[in-house]
Parts: sequence; C-alpha cells; structure tokens
Amino acid sequence: MSSSIVGQAVTRIDGRLKVTGQAAYGVEHRIQNVAHGVGVSSTIANGRIVRIDTSEAEKMPGVLAILHHGNFDRMYRPAGSLEEMSRPGESRPPFEDENVYYYGQFVALVIANTFEQAQDAASHVRVQYEAKRPFVRLEQVPAPNKSPDTQSSRGNAEAALQQGPVKLDATYVTPVETHNPMEMHGTIAAWEGDKLTLYETTQGVVNHHNVASQVLGMPPESIHIVSPFVGSGFGCKLFPWPHSWLAAAGARHVKRPVKVAVPRTLMFTTVGHRPLVQQHVRLAATQDGKLVAMMNDVLQHTSVVDEYLENCVDATSMLYSCPNVKAQQYEVPLNVGTPTPMRGPGRTPALFALESAMDELAIKLNMDPLELRLRNYAEKDESSGKPWSSKHLRDAYQKGAERFGWSKRNPKVGSMRKGNEILGWGMATCTWPCHAAGADVRVRLLSDGSAHASCATQDIGTGTYTVFAEIVSDKTGLPVEKVKVALGDSSLPPGPTSGGSAATASVVPAISKATENAIQAVIKAASKAPQGPFHGIDPKQLKMTQGRIHIVDKSPDSGVPFQEILASQHLVGLDGKATSGREHRSYPGDPGPEREKYSIHSFGAHFCEVAFDPEIVRLRVTRWLSVIDGGRIINQKTARNQILGAVVMGIGMGMLEETVYDPRTGHPINNNFADYMVAVNADVPEMECIFLDYPDTVLNEYGARGIGEIGLTGCASAITSATYHATGIRVRELPIRIEKLLASA
Ligand code: MOS
Repeated sequence: MSSSIVGQAVTRIDGRLKVTGQAAYGVEHRIQNVAHGVGVSSTIANGRIVRIDTSEAEKMPGVLAILHHGNFDRMYRPAGSLEEMSRPGESRPPFEDENVYYYGQFVALVIANTFEQAQDAASHVRVQYEAKRPFVRLEQVPAPNKSPDTQSSRGNAEAALQQGPVKLDATYVTPVETHNPMEMHGTIAAWEGDKLTLYETTQGVVNHHNVASQVLGMPPESIHIVSPFVGSGFGCKLFPWPHSWLAAAGARHVKRPVKVAVPRTLMFTTVGHRPLVQQHVRLAATQDGKLVAMMNDVLQHTSVVDEYLENCVDATSMLYSCPNVKAQQYEVPLNVGTPTPMRGPGRTPALFALESAMDELAIKLNMDPLELRLRNYAEKDESSGKPWSSKHLRDAYQKGAERFGWSKRNPKVGSMRKGNEILGWGMATCTWPCHAAGADVRVRLLSDGSAHASCATQDIGTGTYTVFAEIVSDKTGLPVEKVKVALGDSSLPPGPTSGGSAATASVVPAISKATENAIQAVIKAASKAPQGPFHGIDPKQLKMTQGRIHIVDKSPDSGVPFQEILASQHLVGLDGKATSGREHRSYPGDPGPEREKYSIHSFGAHFCEVAFDPEIVRLRVTRWLSVIDGGRIINQKTARNQILGAVVMGIGMGMLEETVYDPRTGHPINNNFADYMVAVNADVPEMECIFLDYPDTVLNEYGARGIGEIGLTGCASAITSATYHATGIRVRELPIRIEKLLASA
C-alpha cells in the first residue's frame, strides 16, 4: 500500500460536474411536462383550520388543483424507526386533519402550470383559523414533571458536589439553529402507471425509500428514489419531510409530474432545526484540579407531534475522568416543527456547556485550561467501563499547544494586545462518537479496462464518490480516472445514510471486499481461459497489480491487463459484491459484535484567537487551529474540507446564529439569509487543520473512523473562552452579540 492513493489529497471525482453545472440537484432534473406545486403554510402555530376558501384561487390562470385536508388522498403515519432505516423527519403526514401544530405547517398545496401561477394562486387561498396561544419558548411552559428522557450516573454526584472544595455552577444556553444548506429541499414526483419516481435531495436514499413506501402505502418496489448529487444537508436531509409526500400526491392527482421546492422561509419551519438546549452544569474539583463531581441538568424542546432527543448526557458522562457523575435530560414539547439532527447533534451543544464550564473552573483554580483537561484525562470510557478503540487526545492537545504557541498565553484578562485590539486565546476539546452502519457494494471490472462501483448510499458533498474510487483504485491499481461510481439511487445495492460522520467507515470495508471479489472473479476466468497464458494455473498463484493479472512471484509486467482476459472470454465484465455490517442501520448505526468491546470516538482540540476592538465593540476570530484524532484519513483534501467547513459553522454558532420565534405567533421572524446570519468569508480567518492519522483498526482494515461533525463540537466554547480572555465577559447564552460586549468597551 506504499504507493497507495489512500491518504493523499485527491480531488473530488465529481468536482468538474459540479463546477460546470452538470451535476443535477433534486429539483434540477429535467422532467417533461412538469407542473409546479406551491404550499400554503399556516400563519398560526397552534390551533385548527376552520375553513379553506379556494374559490378565488381556483379560477386563476394555469391552476390545475388545490389540495388540502378536505380533499386529500389518504396517507399513513410511518411505523418505521431509525433502526429499521425508515425514520421520517415529521411523523404526521401532511393534511392529516384540520389541526395546526406549528407556524409554517403546510395547510394546502396549489398546483399550476408554472411556478409563478402556483405562487400567485397560493397567495389567494383564504384560510380561516381558530388560533390558540402558541408555546415557542421554554420559559412559557411548566418544568417537566416526568422521568428523564435520558440519563447517566455513576458514584454519588450530589454528595460529592457538596464536599468539593472548588465549585462551579452555571447555566448555558444554545439557541435554535436552522440548517441552511445551499441546496434547499425539494422534490419532483413522477408517476408511470402505479410506479413512482421521486427526485430528491436526501442524505438517506434507502431511508427515504422505506419511509415513502410506508407513508404512501405502496410496495417498496413501486418506488424509485433518485438523488445523485446533494448540495449538502448538515442533518436536515437525513429524514424525509412533508413536501416530499405533497409532491407525490399532487402528481398523482393532476396526472403530471409535480415539482415542490421548499423556499428559504420554509427551511425555517418544516424541515427541522437544532433545538434550543439549556444546560445547568455543576462541577466540583479539588484544589489541584481533579474533578470530583459533575452534574448536568438538560432541558431541550421538541415538537408537539414528535419526540426528538438532542443527547447531551452522553458527552457529559464520557469526556472526562470523574468518579461522581450525574446527567439527566428532558424534552419539552413546543409549537415548532419537529427538530432534527444538525451537524454534531448532542455533542455540539453539550460541549459548549462542558468546555465552557471547564474553562470557568480553570479560572477559579488559577490553572491553565489545557492543564485542567490533562489532569482529568479519561484513560478509558468511564461511562461504560470500556477501553477506547484508539485515543490520542493528549497528543492532539500537545501538538496543538505547540503549534499555536499556547505557552505564550498570558492568562490575565485583557493583557494581550496587538495595536488597538485586545487579543483573547481560547481552547476546547472536541469529540464525536464513531458509528458504522452496513453497506452492500457492487464492483464490476469491465472489458474496456475500467471499473464500476455502485451503492445506494449518496454523496452529500463530503466526497463519498471519491472515497469509492480511491478504495477501488487502491485494490486494483487502476487510476482513479478509470473508476466510475454510481450512488444516490434506490435501485442500487442498499447503502447507509450519510449521517453521524459514519458513511466512510461504513462503506470502506464493503468497497474493499467487493473489489477483491471482482478481482478474484477475473483471476478465476484467467485460470479457466483455454487460450490464455494462465490456463490451468491455481487461482491462488495469481494476483492483480496495476490492473494486470500476473503470477504472484513474478512482476506485474510479466502479466496481462485484466481487460484482455475479459475480452478473450467474450465477457463485458465481472462482478464482485460484498456486504459489511450486520444490518443496514442508519443513524447512529450498529457497532457490531467485535466493536462492542470498545468505546469508539474521535477526539481533538481547537485553539483560537479573537481580536476585540473596544472602540467599536468589534469581535473577530483571527486565528484557528484544529488538531483531529479521527483515525486514518482516506482523503486529506476532502477531510480537511470537512473540518474547516465545520469550524466556519462553529464561528456562526458562536457569534451569529439564532432562530428567533415571535412568542405571539410562533413565526420565525429571521427566516431568511438577511436576518439569519451565517459566517461568511469576512468572518473567517486563516484556519489550520492537522490530522494525527492514527489508524483505528478495530473498525476496518484501513482504520478510517469518520470525520466531519467533530469539527463543530467545542468550537463555540473555544470562541467564548477566548472572548472572556480578551474582554472579561463570559457569554453563556449563544450567540455572542455585540450588546453583550458593550459592558467591557
Ligand atoms: Mo449529520 S447531523 O448526521 O448530517
């Protein structure tokens, strides 16, 4: 494997298609005779529809149909689950009844010849509601009076907390955040007889397929999901949402293909969000910084119709060594759409609280925050008692500190200056659990000298196409350009959801084995070929190198290109197939029996610098370094892209992002790119990312563990800690807003 392409910085094989506009995203597929569906969405967040008057809209030009709960074909609630890879985003099908649970819920669909006609008519549908007061903030609802939705404990945290000599007690809040992928949601539905094709943008082709079958009440074989390219998702495309079913029903009704695109405003209501999470953290430590108690009481919201857990208990219980830990978490239903995973779900809010608390505790102890982490280093996973499969966090701290120059940090608040600006330095741990699901992969070696690999997983922009090509190339010796890859289509062998940063670790073993099987098939053909040079030779004496079949002990040059063997046998190609994982689980995935002996997580450390200009109360992130222990890196380029992209989101989370609901109506008032701010180029400094590259072979032969989401965890607390270092102001409720810093100016 010395000259292997694996681990190099390989350019995306689909990159050219994307930058030249040839890669068709969900609603860009060119379908003949397509009609356009535009949703009418509710302007109340709690109540019921009393009357829908479509009379004026129906008469408008181009209108083909107006569907609502009064005239809609029956749909079903999916009985599926995450484990069965059939989880919906929202379990209530659209137009089930007259009830309204959140602002922006679809109450009608107008279908017309053109998009403009549909949009115009949709604005003329009159809906009369009976509105009740919505609950859109945690403080509007009573404290939960039930057992926790999840919890973890060891030792006696309450008692230890009483005795701990140095204590910290603080509450941290991460607000609702909305996923804003460049490609918004949308579906084109096309029927051919009783067969349905859905052109989608999804992180889970197989999951979408299974849910569609259940919601629409159709046999799975009658549904085809197509999603070859996805303009990212960040979690909001893991599970299907109501617009998909509206497109399907609309197309059946008007007997034409129907396109339903979700506009940016409805990205804030009907396709998930990260829930608000409030964490009450209490820590106790000895004078020399050894944690003796950790408690985290977590409150988060979900919707009225679904449960959704943003698990912050898990990180609290595994990140540090501490004998007494208690964490519990409650879900509180609010009148908002159902929340859904958003990049680094659970650990991202959890680490904002935990890592901020560690920084605050370090200050109380008069100790360097990095030193406090080292004194509480977890040598095993104390929440489960299991050993780590591979953990090099100490290495990440040390490499990061060295490279960043951490030893030059003067801990005194406001003491580091650069011109008119005050510098602040902060650091935080990051971590993400490793999940790996099952995958079926088919690899075909073809008589034109190319290879073809296929799987019904998908590339959401992270580089999965390229990972497939790299592994096939590594095994066969063919250049990456000779490997064609087909993904994002439910007719291919079933593959995992692209979620939990698990796709690479899930598919790599199956690609590798399938390629070996295809090579063996060619070798067998070579040994059988009557006229060939290897006739009668035991297949065990043959191997394939650089695309050539040759005798094991001899050089590849002595062999024959594999395509000549196929051609001589009049074969167009030979297949290898393989399955990895026990079942096709999606998110979080099935660890499998061998892996169950270990606790498998990625780790790392962020170091950042902020610059604060007190004159104009301007705070900027000016320097960033992330050191990631994420197993073997299959592709340096796409991996780096994942971490840097996640850090950009982290800057957004720390300083800009918050979805704000009007408490009177439940309307997300900043539901657009002008008012909901994300980090842009001007907000992003020079960033550096270092991979430690220790293979985690508990998982697979390549030791790839999965990276991506880990990059976001810890970022926001690194920023707020740096901000404290510069200004003396501790922001415990994100994002850091200018008004919060005015006091220090
Ligand atoms: Mo991620 S939240 O699994 O896209």
